[in-house]
Amino acid sequence: MSKTAVLLFILLSATAVTVPAAESEATVKARVDKLLSQMTLDEKIGQLAQVGGLAFLPDAPKPEEAIRKGQAGSILWVSDAARINKLQKMAMEETRLKIPLIFGLDVIHGYRTIFPMPLAMAASWDMGMIERVQAVAAREARASGISWTFAPMVDIARDPRWGRLVEGAGEDPYLGAAVARAQVRGFQGTDVSSPDRMLACAKHFAGYGAADGGRDYDSAYIPEEQMWNVYLPPFQAAREAGVATFMAAYMDLNDVPATGNRFLLQDVLRKAWKFDGFVVSDAFSVRDLTTHGFARDAKDAAFRAFTAGVNMDMASGVYQAHLAALVKEGKVPTATIDAAVRPILAAKFRLGLFEHPYVDEARAQRMVGAAEHRKAAREAAQRSAVLLRNEGGALPLAKDPAKTIAVIGPLGDAKRDLLTMWSGFDLDPSKTVTIVEGIRGKGARVEFAQGVQIAKTYSSMFDQMVGGPQPKAWTPEQADAEFRKAVELANRADVVVLAMGELALMSAELASQSSLEFPGRQRELMEAVAATGKPVVLVMVNGRPLNLVWASRHIPAILEVWHPGTEGGNAVADLLFGDANPGGKLPVSWPRDAGQIPIYYAHNLTHQPETAAGFQSRYWDQPSKPLYPFGHGLSYSKFAVSNLRLAAEAVKLGGTLEVMADVENTSSRDGDEVVQLYIHQKAGKASRPVRQLKGFERVALKASEKKTVRFTLGKAELSYWSGQDRAWIEETESFDLWVGTDSDARLHAGFRVVP
Ligand code: BGC
Repeated sequence: MSKTAVLLFILLSATAVTVPAAESEATVKARVDKLLSQMTLDEKIGQLAQVGGLAFLPDAPKPEEAIRKGQAGSILWVSDAARINKLQKMAMEETRLKIPLIFGLDVIHGYRTIFPMPLAMAASWDMGMIERVQAVAAREARASGISWTFAPMVDIARDPRWGRLVEGAGEDPYLGAAVARAQVRGFQGTDVSSPDRMLACAKHFAGYGAADGGRDYDSAYIPEEQMWNVYLPPFQAAREAGVATFMAAYMDLNDVPATGNRFLLQDVLRKAWKFDGFVVSDAFSVRDLTTHGFARDAKDAAFRAFTAGVNMDMASGVYQAHLAALVKEGKVPTATIDAAVRPILAAKFRLGLFEHPYVDEARAQRMVGAAEHRKAAREAAQRSAVLLRNEGGALPLAKDPAKTIAVIGPLGDAKRDLLTMWSGFDLDPSKTVTIVEGIRGKGARVEFAQGVQIAKTYSSMFDQMVGGPQPKAWTPEQADAEFRKAVELANRADVVVLAMGELALMSAELASQSSLEFPGRQRELMEAVAATGKPVVLVMVNGRPLNLVWASRHIPAILEVWHPGTEGGNAVADLLFGDANPGGKLPVSWPRDAGQIPIYYAHNLTHQPETAAGFQSRYWDQPSKPLYPFGHGLSYSKFAVSNLRLAAEAVKLGGTLEVMADVENTSSRDGDEVVQLYIHQKAGKASRPVRQLKGFERVALKASEKKTVRFTLGKAELSYWSGQDRAWIEETESFDLWVGTDSDARLHAGFRVVP
C-alpha cells in the first residue's frame, strides 16, 4: 500500500464508529414531546443556559456547579476531549433527566489543523474546497466532543478597519451567500448524528459588519433596502442550506440591540424565513442589553432578549437568574418557554447525543492534525492566495540551490501569526510551518532577518488569553541594529522575500484599526530593501487590506497569503516556486488608504461618475477607484475570456437566461481562472448598483486548454428588495451584463426582462 493509502486507511478505520441511523423528524418530535412533559420549569430554563468553561466574568456560573444543578444546556470554551467527557458524565449521571450537554466552540477555520482565515478561504472562490475543509474541521472537532461550531460568520463587511472582516467572506452578498452555503454543508453534511459532523451557527445576526467607523461592537445604521439586499442574503443562504442555529449580534441595529431586536429575530428569521432551529445570544449580550441603555436591569434584559426570540443565553447567566420569576409573575407564558426549549432538545436528539454522549479520547488524539487534514490545509492555503502584482514574471522563483534567498520581515519565521485569533484558546502553534521553514523545505539556501518588530498599540484581553508569550520589545539601539542587519542580508542575497503585514491579533475581535498603514517600521524596511536593487517579492500575511500604493509601484511581485494556517509556510513555498499556481481573487475592493473607506464595487452611480465631464463625483486628491478591484487576482498562467453569448436577448419575468463564455489558458502552464459575471439593471423603482456579481466559476485549465463556462440568470439573480414596495421585485427593464476576470470585466452584452 502507498503511504497515502495507508494514511487514508487509518483515517477511515478511525472514523468507523457505530452510530444509529438519523432519527426521522417525527421520532425527534415525539421524543421532544415526551421529554418536555417530564421537565420542571427549572429544568427547562436550564436548557436555555449556555455556561462558559472559561471564567470571563467573576460572577459567572461555574460549569460543574451549573451542570449538577441542571442549570446548563450547553457549555462553551472547553475544547479538551477529557474535560468534555467529564462534564458530560455529570450531566448524564448526576441530573434527574440525564439530558446531554451540547459543547460549542468557535471552530471557524479548523479545530487543531488550522486552515486559512475565513476571508482567505472566500478568496479561493472555490466552494468545493471550502466545503471539504469545513468538513475536516467538523471531523476533528466532533471527534473531540465539540458538536456545535459558532460558524459560519457571514457578516458582510465593507470597512477593513473592522477587525472581524477576517472572519467573513468580504464585501459581496452573492459571494457571501455561496460561501455561507458551502460552510454549512461542510460542517453539517446531511446528517449531524454522524461522528464527523456538527451543528453550524450563522452569525452575527445581523448587520455587525457595518459598525460605525469600523469600531468593533459599535452601532450599525442600515436602511432596510441595504439590510435585505446586502447584509441578509448570506444569512438567508445559510438558512436555506439548513443551518441549525443562529447567533444574535452584539451591536445596536438602527438603535435596537440585535439581541433584543424583534424585526430581526421575529419578522425576518421566524416569519419570513420560517427558521425552526434555535437562536443563541452572543457572549454576555443578554446581560449587556442594560449596558446599551436598552434594558432597565438584568431581569428586563432577560425579558427583552427572550421575548424577542433568543432561545439560549450565552454565558451571561441572566436567563437562569430571572426567567423563572418572569414566568411566575405571568410576564412570560410557560408555552413560550416550551417553544424555546423544543429546538434545543431536538438538536440534541438529531446529534445522537442521548445515545452517544461521550467521545473516544484515543480516537480524538488520532484524528486531530492527521496527515490528510494537513494536506487539505496546504491545498486550502495555496488556493486562497491572491497574486496581486507580478511585473516581468518576477514570480515564480527559479529553484537554484546555489542562490541565497533572504527572508526578511516580522512574519518570516512566525508561527502564531500564520493563524488567527480564533484558532483555539489552548492553541499549540508549534505545529505551524513558517515561511522560512517552507522555503527551506524546497532545498533552497535561506537566511532570515526579522528586521523590525511589530506590536499593537493597545493590548486587548485576547492578547493575553491567546496571544502566547509576548517577545521582549527591542531597545531603540537593538531596533536599529536589527534593521541594518536585514538590509545587509538583502545586499548579499540573490533574491529577497519580504514577509510583512500584521500580527494575528491585529484582526478579529477587539482588533479594529484606524489606519491601513503597515504597522511599525515595515514600510521603511520595504523601501530600504527595495533600494538595494535586488529582486524583491512581497509576501503579505495580514487580515485586512493594507496600504500598498508605494509597494504597487516599487515591488515587482506581491503575493497575498493572508493568515494562511498550519501549513502556511509550505503553501507559500509551493506558490513562490511555482509548485502551486495562484488562482485566488480578492473578496474585497482593495482601498488605496483608509480615507477611501467604505469602498465597494457594487455602489450606485447616484450622480456623475469620475469619468464624466464637468460635475464629477470623485476625490480630488487621489483616484476614487480602489488600488485593486474586487475579484482581482493574477496567475502564472495567462487567460483570455471571449465569445460571450446569451441564449436570448430577452427573458420573461420569472424565466431563466443562459449565458456562456469561453475561457482559454493561452500559456504553457496549467492554472485556474475565476470567470465572473456581473449585471446592472439600467432603470427601475430604485437605482441599482453599477455592477453586481451574479455568477462565478473557478475553472482549472491545462496549458492551452479552452473551456466554455455556463451561467444561469433567473429570478433570484434578477430580483432585488424594493424599499418602495417593501418586497422582492423583478422588473421588466434593460440590463447590462459583463463577463471577465474581475469587477472591471469588459466583455459586454445587454438583455431585457420582458412581461
Ligand atoms: C464572539 C462570537 C463568538 C463568541 C463565543 C464572542 O465574543 O463575538 O463570535 O462565537 O464570543 O466565543
